[in-house]
Amino acid sequence: MGQNRTYAFFKGNFVPLEEANVNIMNNAFMYGTAVFEGVRGYWNERKEEMYVFRLREHFERMNDSMKIMHMELKYSVDEMCDIVIELLRRNAPRVDTYIRPSAYKAGQKVGPSLEGSPTDFCVFTVAFGDYFHGSPGLNVQISSWRRVEDNAIPARAKIVGAYANTALAKTDALLSGFDECIVLSENGHVSEGSAMNLFMVKRGQLITTPSTENILEGITRSSIMEFAEAEFGLKAVCRQIDRSELYIADELFFCGTGAQIAPIISVDKRRVGSGVTGPVTEKVRDLYISICRGEEPKYNKWLTPVYAGQKAEISAQKNPRAGSTAR
Ligand SMILES: Cc1ncc(COP(=O)(O)O)c(C=O)c1O
Repeated sequence: MGQNRTYAFFKGNFVPLEEANVNIMNNAFMYGTAVFEGVRGYWNERKEEMYVFRLREHFERMNDSMKIMHMELKYSVDEMCDIVIELLRRNAPRVDTYIRPSAYKAGQKVGPSLEGSPTDFCVFTVAFGDYFHGSPGLNVQISSWRRVEDNAIPARAKIVGAYANTALAKTDALLSGFDECIVLSENGHVSEGSAMNLFMVKRGQLITTPSTENILEGITRSSIMEFAEAEFGLKAVCRQIDRSELYIADELFFCGTGAQIAPIISVDKRRVGSGVTGPVTEKVRDLYISICRGEEPKYNKWLTPVYAGQKAEISAQKNPRAGSTAR
C-alpha cells in the first residue's frame, strides 16, 4: 500500500494512476459514450475519519445512466461501493476528496453505436476543496446556451458527452466575467446551473425546478429536500421557474456534490434579495456541511466511513479472537 503513490481502479485492478490510460481509439474517447458520478469524501480531522456522502445512491444513479446508455457491468452496486472504499484506503487521503467512478464503452471500432461495444469501469480519486474557491456569493448570468433536451441527450443520465453543453455554458459565463450561469430549457424555463441544481426562496417557500426541466436529479438536491422539511419544516415545492422570477427571488442557491451549497448574489446584474447570503441558504448550507462531515448522528445513514472498518479489520487480524468486525 503506497503512502506516496496514487492508485486508480482500472480494468479490474488497482493500478498506479499513471498506468490507468485508455487507447485513443476507445469508443468513449471518440464519442463521449461514458457515464460517471462525482462523489465527495469529507475529511473529519477531529475524528480522523473520511466520510463518503451517499455512495450507494451515486451508484444507483449510475446504474440508471448505464441502462439508458445500453451498458452492463459485472459489478453490483455493493461491489462498486467496496471498490471505492478499497481505493480510498490505498490512497489514504486526509483531506476532502473527489471520487470519480465512470462506466465507459471500451470498444475500439470506428462508429458511434452503443451496441456490441463492451463496457468497462474505472475510478480515480483526487484532493478537492471548494469548487468556487471560497467565494462568499456568486454573480451569475443566464446562459445563451440551452440545456440539452431529454430527446437529444437525456440530462437525467450523467453522460460524459452532454458535458460539452456544460463546458460551453460555463466557459461563456467565465469569459463574460461571471462566476457561473443558469441554463434554461428550450421552453425558456429555468433548468439548473452548469453542473448543479438550483433552489429559490420566495416568501419563505423553498422552490426547485422539476425533473422534467432537463435537470440531473441531484443527490444533494434530494438530500436538501429531505432535511429541510425534517429539520426546518420547509417543504420544498417542485415547479417550473420563470427566468424573471430569478430577478425578484428573496434568495437563490446552487447545490451539488462539487458546488455543495453556493449562494447566488446576483443574476444578470440584478441583485438577489439584499445581495448577501440569505438566512435560509445559510442554515441549509451549515447543516449540509455538518451532515457531510459526520457531525449529525441522525444523518450518519448517508455516510460511509472509510477508515473505521479498516482499523477494525487490522485489529481483528492481529487479534483473531476479538470477535466480529463487519463493516
Ligand atoms: C448537470 C448537473 N446537475 C446537477 C448536479 C448535482 O447533482 P449531485 O447533487 O448529485 O451532485 C450535477 C453534479 O454534480 C451536474 O453535473
